[in-house]
Amino acid sequence: GELEPFNNFPPSDFTIKEERDAFPESMSKIRKDFGQRYPLYIGGQEIITDDTLDSYNPADPSEIIGTVCQAGVAEVDKAVAVAKDAYLDWRNVEPRERAQYLLKAAQYCKDNINDLSAMQVLEVGKQWDQAQGDVAEAIDFLEYYAREMIRLGDPKRMGNSPGEYSQYFYQGKGVAAVIAPWNFPLAISVGMVSAAIVSGCSVVYKPAGISSAVGYGLVEMFKAAGLPDGVFNYTPGRGSVMGDHLVDHPDVSVIAFTGSMEVGLRIQERAAKVHPGQQHCKKVIAEMGGKNGIIIDDDADLDEAVLGVLYAAFGFQGQKCSACSRVIVVDSIYDRFTHRLKEAAESVKLGPAEDPSNYMGPVVDKAACQNVLNYCKIAEEEGKVLVKREAPLEYREKSGCYTPMLIVEGITRDHRIAQEEVFGPVLSVMRAKDFKEAIDIANSTRFALTGAVYSRSPKHLDLATREFRVGNLYLNKPSVGALVERHAFGGFKMSGVGSKAGGPDYLLQFMDPRLVCENT
Ligand code: SER
Repeated sequence: GELEPFNNFPPSDFTIKEERDAFPESMSKIRKDFGQRYPLYIGGQEIITDDTLDSYNPADPSEIIGTVCQAGVAEVDKAVAVAKDAYLDWRNVEPRERAQYLLKAAQYCKDNINDLSAMQVLEVGKQWDQAQGDVAEAIDFLEYYAREMIRLGDPKRMGNSPGEYSQYFYQGKGVAAVIAPWNFPLAISVGMVSAAIVSGCSVVYKPAGISSAVGYGLVEMFKAAGLPDGVFNYTPGRGSVMGDHLVDHPDVSVIAFTGSMEVGLRIQERAAKVHPGQQHCKKVIAEMGGKNGIIIDDDADLDEAVLGVLYAAFGFQGQKCSACSRVIVVDSIYDRFTHRLKEAAESVKLGPAEDPSNYMGPVVDKAACQNVLNYCKIAEEEGKVLVKREAPLEYREKSGCYTPMLIVEGITRDHRIAQEEVFGPVLSVMRAKDFKEAIDIANSTRFALTGAVYSRSPKHLDLATREFRVGNLYLNKPSVGALVERHAFGGFKMSGVGSKAGGPDYLLQFMDPRLVCENT
């Protein structure tokens, strides 16, 4: 039958008792399985390796989530070979049929939403509602890309010249290497992987090391969906051991990457080089960082603006490419806004994400913690502290990966803290003499991912629409939390190649368009 039109999946409502009570049950259930070994999954086979990596709970690193087998060069070669073989059949499976596998995977996620979210709370320290939001986004990608492939799947007749029949259609490019981040560990993985699969590519998927247990969820969902062996392969591994090898492989046609600017640029550079035996130009889809600004205009609704900035800057500890790291305040409202921001920031609780009353928790691992602490130092040297909060000692004593929640003011566009992506809970306050200057400041970075404006002036909102040049601009709402389709997501400049995840052009990147003209 016909599919219902796409709609965003509603996450649980934790104000309802049954929904709230179900969540800790899932956390206990997940915990019972902690410490298990996660194999690789290549060509429908589980593969054990000698090299393993432990994934731990950032709120308490002594709690091991699981031991994850690590692919090396040999395993990558095997996965690419298997995927190359699987691609030849998969490419010819009807688009509508390929879409069905995504819909089945979506059903699996709906049936297991609490378990899948609970794993994120414990493996990466995501707050309950945000973990649920991540799984809901994964469901949305599956449902949306299934429909998109059905839309794009039928060959289109071109022109109507008598005596010829021309048809235009798409075929999957080949083997896609998907290199995923840890911050939206299910959603972004599922988004890139499912787009490749439904487009007729086969996939070698490398989850981030820090979130490989969440990443294993993809193995389970595609098994549950009955996806043919070899179309999806799970190969976690150390970037330093197998990252370049996967990117350089002559049989990889597409590389879909989400992560830092440094790694994204490195992938683009390496992918440009042709290796012996390679038969195609590699396509790189790279979504990278941000240094996102929120502008507070002189007539902003401060009730909304203060909460919006706080959430955009400190939700999931600021570890989102969409996070607000600069708030640019028009001079005449500066004192009122910063006073209220300080009060709000000082009123929230800090501690593990496992307890839903905590607003902000630990960052994702020890390395991230060290990196953020370095930036805190830079921020304090360059600016003046407005807010600096620490999580209670009892949590820090467990060697949890806690950094301060930090807000500094007196930051101008030349400061490092105004230009470099921290990926943590550090917010710079910048002062602008008027709205026009606020837009100039907002644009004064190499990134162009997200931004937001709080203003009641239609003229200013218009000006921002034209001149605040980012991939996703939000008017009177926070810079984070894009929903599939409604807020097709992605940026340009150094934030990425201009692709829009969850948008109408996304699948085209994984396919070769073909034209066949028959003389009739
Ligand atoms: N899509 C996420 C957001 O909008 C970022 O990856 O917050």
